[in-house]
Amino acid sequence: MEKKKIAVVFGGESSEHDISCISAGTIIENINRDQYDIRLIGITKDGRWLLVDSGESIKDGSWRDSKVQAAVLPDKKNHGIMIYDGNSYSVEYIDVIFPILHGLYGEDGTIQGLFELSGIPYVGCGVLASSAGMDKLTTKRLVDTLHIRQAECVAVFAKELTCIDKVVEKIESKLDYPVFVKPSNAGSSKGVSKAKDREALITAIKEAAVHDGRILVEETIVGREIECAVMSRNGENVAAGVGEILAAADFYDFDAKYNNADSRTVVNPKLPDGVKEKIMEAAVRIFEVIDGYGLSRVDFFLEKGSNDIVFNEINTMPGFTSISMYPMIWKDAGVEVKELVNLLIENACVRKDR
Ligand SMILES: Nc1ncnc2c1ncn2[C@@H]1O[C@H](COP(=O)(O)OP(=O)(O)O)[C@@H](O)[C@H]1O
Ligand SMILES: [Mg+2]
Repeated sequence: MEKKKIAVVFGGESSEHDISCISAGTIIENINRDQYDIRLIGITKDGRWLLVDSGESIKDGSWRDSKVQAAVLPDKKNHGIMIYDGNSYSVEYIDVIFPILHGLYGEDGTIQGLFELSGIPYVGCGVLASSAGMDKLTTKRLVDTLHIRQAECVAVFAKELTCIDKVVEKIESKLDYPVFVKPSNAGSSKGVSKAKDREALITAIKEAAVHDGRILVEETIVGREIECAVMSRNGENVAAGVGEILAAADFYDFDAKYNNADSRTVVNPKLPDGVKEKIMEAAVRIFEVIDGYGLSRVDFFLEKGSNDIVFNEINTMPGFTSISMYPMIWKDAGVEVKELVNLLIENACVRKDR
């Protein structure tokens, strides 16, 4: 059987660039080499697209010195990439793309739009689900239609910030301190803060506004953080199971996520009866309401006291590092990472609805 060609696209302009490079390592190691030839395309933090010659150069960072450019062509007839080595151009047919990109320009529908134009199948959610899932305010409005509980929220828009007193009044009339302030469109806890009083609230809003002109101010949910892995499989969307985040900080901020070795994750944690099933069912419904396809990790709180399930956010391209929850949950459900990676690629190739 002739091998297919897969392009793995990694890096990207977002704050999660480094995580993407680590995730890419996992994906590359686990793609079935009997079936696929791999092309690596790295996107630098300043948005340059480079052809990368080996997985090793991703590990040591030297891929950024590549002198060869490679980019996906929007022209459907080419169905592939253009490579430019400084002297000459060549065009190469690509069967499928694995965009292992997180955050801005990678997980938000923009690059998915380019892939749609190119006609090349790609792993994961399409344009709509990616952009809706990346934008917390939009996700919230869609999930509201499912009557799944979410943190009470006040939306704040950049143009209101000239009159900060009014904004504060609007928030204080609806929510008690402490509140969570977050940019609608960011990720990796960038711009997220917990504010315990008015002064901290104003600082937090200004900080969030650096990341996005649309801001959410939410009631604080006190409880456990439970995440659920969803995948499209044989035409159905299924949840594998759940995992718990034990943040070594007041909340799961950027540092606790990536720098604090004391933050832990537990797959299949002990939960009150029925909670796991409820979360798995809600996760699939949320995945579907944003028009999800391929994969997503859907994050919840289990509220202390009430044991209510409260939806927090959906990540349409979850991390694939060695400590990432998404592959660990699937492993616990009996799907090893090799099988998982190849299932995700197969799913991309058979997608019919776009
Ligand atoms: N309403 C909330 N109540 C309690 N904790 C929250 C709330 N919103 C966010 N957090 C905390 O902040 C972290 C990051 O917020 P999240 O909405 O997941 O944004 P990101 O997309 O940056 O991961 C969460 O993992 C959680 O620890
Ligand atoms: Mg999160």
